[in-house]
Amino acid sequence: MKFFIDTANLEEIKEAASYGFLDGVTTNPSLIAKEGLSDQNKRIKAICELTPGPVSAEVLACETEPMIKEARQLAAIASNVVVKIPMTMSGLQACSILSGDGIKVNVTLVFTSIQALLAAKAGASYVSPFVGRLDDIGVDGLNVVEEILGIYDNYEFITEIIVASVRHPQHVARAALIGADICTIPFSVIKRLASHPLTDDGLAKFMADHGKVKFSSH
Ligand code: E4P
Repeated sequence: MKFFIDTANLEEIKEAASYGFLDGVTTNPSLIAKEGLSDQNKRIKAICELTPGPVSAEVLACETEPMIKEARQLAAIASNVVVKIPMTMSGLQACSILSGDGIKVNVTLVFTSIQALLAAKAGASYVSPFVGRLDDIGVDGLNVVEEILGIYDNYEFITEIIVASVRHPQHVARAALIGADICTIPFSVIKRLASHPLTDDGLAKFMADHGKVKFSSH
């Protein structure tokens, strides 16, 4: 499973990349706003300079033609830009045209397997089911991902599934277990992935035991 980071913060991306397991980046308008940025394109360019992996950048327009225009501008920033298009009927039209022109599209705000099927049929390279937001309303988000995996497998779609809206390490573990292609993870969760209290206790004991040994000179 590939690991993306879900952020528009350059320091977070640099640190996550330094651990050696980062495959890409996803952003969205809320993450760009959190950084206090009005110029999304400048930040997307900076992110693309930091990472060779796919970088998702979302359009702000809601109608098909303006979405396509904005998507082309985003795609021109760097060769690794993936355009994020919302899961609406206009979004599907835009996805179909952009994908036909060779622009990679990530269909976002996906909450059902039928939405994911439509996105794949419209040529999406990626589809982003939001598991945390589904969990919040009492629907098991990763069950929806399992359904999407089954449907894509039935019809041999090559659209990759990005498990999004990840809230905790268990989401990441389950996503890997069911065979999702990608998990996009906030920095706060990335930092928790490697931690376990028994690892910390075990290391403290090893260090304490080592400190008790008197070393001879030979
Ligand atoms: C994915 O591409 C989205 O940016 C993101 O995962 C949404 O997560 P949230 O539900 O925590 O806002």
